[in-house]
Amino acid sequence: MEIKSKSWKESYTQIERLVLPADTNVFNALYGGRLMEWIDNVASIVAFKHCRQGTVTGSIDSLFFLAPIHLGFIVNMKGRVNYTTKTTMEIEVDVSAQDALSGKERFTTKAYLTYVAVDVDGRPSPVPGLILDDDDSKDRFKSGEERSLRRLELLKSVKKEAQIFDDMH
Ligand SMILES: CC(C)(COP(=O)(O)OP(=O)(O)OC[C@H]1O[C@@H](n2cnc3c(N)ncnc32)[C@H](O)[C@@H]1OP(=O)(O)O)[C@@H](O)C(=O)NCCC(=O)NCCS
Repeated sequence: MEIKSKSWKESYTQIERLVLPADTNVFNALYGGRLMEWIDNVASIVAFKHCRQGTVTGSIDSLFFLAPIHLGFIVNMKGRVNYTTKTTMEIEVDVSAQDALSGKERFTTKAYLTYVAVDVDGRPSPVPGLILDDDDSKDRFKSGEERSLRRLELLKSVKKEAQIFDDMH
């Protein structure tokens, strides 16, 4: 059965979080690990909405922390699908942080995550393609394809390393 392609708009997700003391490090700034968890959560929602089946995080690459996010700031995360293959989705999450008192906002973080759709047995399963109906979607798809090729090269070498480790244990 052919799977119908979908627009990125059907899975676009925006979430806001307030940085509380339990989320911070000794410098009163948001823990990198906490932000990674929030980013993974946003991207998981995007992945579910796009393919409406089980998904797992395959890889997280190009996670850039450009500026610290302080206690009491409002964190805004926007996630969208850029690129798909037969069974994977590349999801971009852009993060900005707003000073809750002044309203001043800064772009702080960008991440690209790849999710693999899986069936009930955990095996990769086909996902809907993307409808590319404007120049921005086309550009994002093309850049996603380029990142995917680089990612696959890296995945190949990591898998080789994993095989050597597994063979020794
Ligand atoms: C991701 C996973 C399902 C892939 O299974 P696999 O048998 O290696 O899959 P395949 O080699 O057949 O690859 C299937 C597709 O996924 C891609 N892929 C596989 N592993 C990937 C990874 N780690 N990162 C990005 N893409 C990956 C392949 O390129 C392929 O893409 P395609 O749609 O273009 O064909 C499996 O490695 C797994 O379960 N990993 C653990 C996931 C996990 O625990 N995540 C954290 C918690 S959610």
